[in-house]
Amino acid sequence: MNNSFLWGGATASYQCEGAWNEDDKVDSMWDAYLHEKGLENGDVASDFYHRYKEDIRMMKEGGQNSFRFSLSWPRIILDKEGTVNPKGLQFYHDLIDECLRQGIEPFVTIYHWDLPQYLEAEGGWQNRATCDAFMHYARVVMKEFDGKITYWTTFNEPRWFIFNGYFIGNYPPECHSAQMTIKGAWHVLLAHAMAVQAFREEGIQGKIGIVHSYTPVDGVDDRPETLKAMRYADNYCNNWVLDTATKGEIPQDMLDKLSAEGIDLSFMNEADLQIIRNNHVDFLGLNYYSRTLVKPYTEGETTLIVNNTGKKGKGTSKTIVKNWFEQVQDPDSEYTEWDTEIYPKGLYDGLIRAWERYHLPIFITENGIGCYEDVSVDCVQDDWRISYMNDHINAIMNAMDDGVDVRGYFAWSSFDLYSWKNGCEKRYGLVAVDFENGLCRRPKKSYYWFKDVIESKGERVERRKL
Ligand code: BG6
Repeated sequence: MNNSFLWGGATASYQCEGAWNEDDKVDSMWDAYLHEKGLENGDVASDFYHRYKEDIRMMKEGGQNSFRFSLSWPRIILDKEGTVNPKGLQFYHDLIDECLRQGIEPFVTIYHWDLPQYLEAEGGWQNRATCDAFMHYARVVMKEFDGKITYWTTFNEPRWFIFNGYFIGNYPPECHSAQMTIKGAWHVLLAHAMAVQAFREEGIQGKIGIVHSYTPVDGVDDRPETLKAMRYADNYCNNWVLDTATKGEIPQDMLDKLSAEGIDLSFMNEADLQIIRNNHVDFLGLNYYSRTLVKPYTEGETTLIVNNTGKKGKGTSKTIVKNWFEQVQDPDSEYTEWDTEIYPKGLYDGLIRAWERYHLPIFITENGIGCYEDVSVDCVQDDWRISYMNDHINAIMNAMDDGVDVRGYFAWSSFDLYSWKNGCEKRYGLVAVDFENGLCRRPKKSYYWFKDVIESKGERVERRKL
């Protein structure tokens, strides 16, 4: 790895900041939803809003040279008229300045799911006006922090928050509608392209990309019907985000199939399509947790279930997309308590495919394992995380050896934080946060291991062929 390779951790505003109603911040859709339902929420989370200096110091001491975090839209823009909150901007100036002082490259996500509730109340991502509001917000922050930031990304994981919010219904606004899913996805792609347009119009320094929940698709065999199912699955999982953001092309066979199945695409008007066609990213951020193994569709209605129970095989995750494909589990693979397959080879395969297809610089913007951990000890001996990270960094290094231009690796997450519907007990951090005892921070064994890896420029990783 060369000296400019970025090594760090990643977080998201709602998942770590807390301070949910401080310094004039307004409600996000997650504040409103979780408060209304009385569910575990991010009101305090890791209290990063007040402890960011300590957290950045630990990143520095851990040898990291970059930090991926998101800006909170409802902290910065107070209403649908677009009023800017100076206190919100000040917080991020302070945070960014602290990063720069410590030699940590800030890697910024503009949107990581915390839509202001005043926009959700007007239809959220179903409403074309939200795209204009996003462009305004993106323009404000890009101009405000111009010159301090080299790497901007517009959206974190469009697929994940759109499918969960509009089809699976485990995220706000808890809908179950294919039509709303497609329309929401369209508006997010459009808003993304509008932000890229604003970035170019304003002559903002640095580079702009998008972060995708990348899940490379494998088939159970190579029969023609399986290959067809794989193409449908790849469109569903990846291509609609990646093809569109990199080339301005929404996969035509996917649009044809959606129309044939009765989805109304009349909202895709020519003027907006033109914005999408004209505004492409400079790099890709890929979050990798697992691949998707598929077989041809056989029967049943479309069923999407995410395991938020934390009991292996109980909340059984399932994906069947009627007339498209069915996801299957590999009996020979290992799975986490949340039914996520541990499959580092998928990262190698995915990097090779993304490189062949898009030829753009790639950052692995998230990778990590969620576990139950006892954090009352001095140092959590998280050998499972070390082994997981070792095998995934090894996969990246193998892909780089084979020519893929990977520029950085961000562990999810820098420290323990609130894991959406899984609460705080699903821990991903390199640093333990004791949520029960004053939120004190203690580095885990993986933090020290990661430091060694960084200092050795990757030499410390146990290499193997995949
Ligand atoms: C990604 C998100 O989907 O994965 C994060 O960008 C999220 O926000 C992470 O926390 C892990 O998922 P989960 O559901 O286990 O928290």
